[in-house]
Amino acid sequence: MQDMTWEREYRNPLLVTKSEEPQKDTLRFLKWLKKEQNVILENLSVLDLGCGTGRNSNYIAGLGNNVTGFEVSTTALDLARTRGRGLSVSYQHQNIGAAYPLADNSIDLILDVTSSNSLNEKEREAYLSETARVLKPGGYFFVKTLCKDGDQNAKNLIKKNPGPEADTYINQDMGLVERVFTEKNFRELYSKDFQILRLEKKTSYTRFKNQSYKRNFWLAYLKKNI
Ligand SMILES: C[S@@+](CC[C@H](N)C(=O)[O-])C[C@H]1O[C@@H](n2cnc3c(N)ncnc32)[C@H](O)[C@@H]1O
Repeated sequence: MQDMTWEREYRNPLLVTKSEEPQKDTLRFLKWLKKEQNVILENLSVLDLGCGTGRNSNYIAGLGNNVTGFEVSTTALDLARTRGRGLSVSYQHQNIGAAYPLADNSIDLILDVTSSNSLNEKEREAYLSETARVLKPGGYFFVKTLCKDGDQNAKNLIKKNPGPEADTYINQDMGLVERVFTEKNFRELYSKDFQILRLEKKTSYTRFKNQSYKRNFWLAYLKKNI
């Protein structure tokens, strides 16, 4: 687990955001849930994996849902708890690549907003089996993660600063190992327990040290097999 790397990042943020605004792709997913799947976003049990400072958890709790946020950085958790005061949200210091202290089939909706791409392969196995275990049959799972297809920057990074496992590189700014996924990888990993209702590639530009980096992400709308 790269917990110290994340903790250092939250103490002195270079790339991570401390914004309180919910993440835009997450809002779009919630809108889709409501409009296309007729899901009423109230009284749901929601699990936010790698919740950071709680921008998505607190927003969803504010709509009247019960949210659990798992996070490894204590600095991020402190901020999330302060901002979430008065809301039905429980922030826990918990590795998302290990056993979850939650009952089988107890969660309606899981979010993984660019969190699991810093897990190693062993942790990813635990993450996939634990998300499948705790999500209710027919429950929804939103995943935003790093995409390899068509991302020249990712390919250059893998060549220049390779990480210890396939399709990983060391993000030199943070000292973080990150994994990128081809569409084939993604489908293979998630289709065992989840139906992939939508898989969309999105290009974003990140500014860092006066340079603009083009990165591709997967936006995946999943539903647990019934
Ligand atoms: C790019 S940030 C995104 C944060 C949040 N999901 C958001 O959208 O604001 C990734 C988050 O995942 C957390 N994280 C990374 N690996 C983790 C792990 N193994 N267990 C729990 N949290 C983890 C990091 O500390 C960080 O807060």
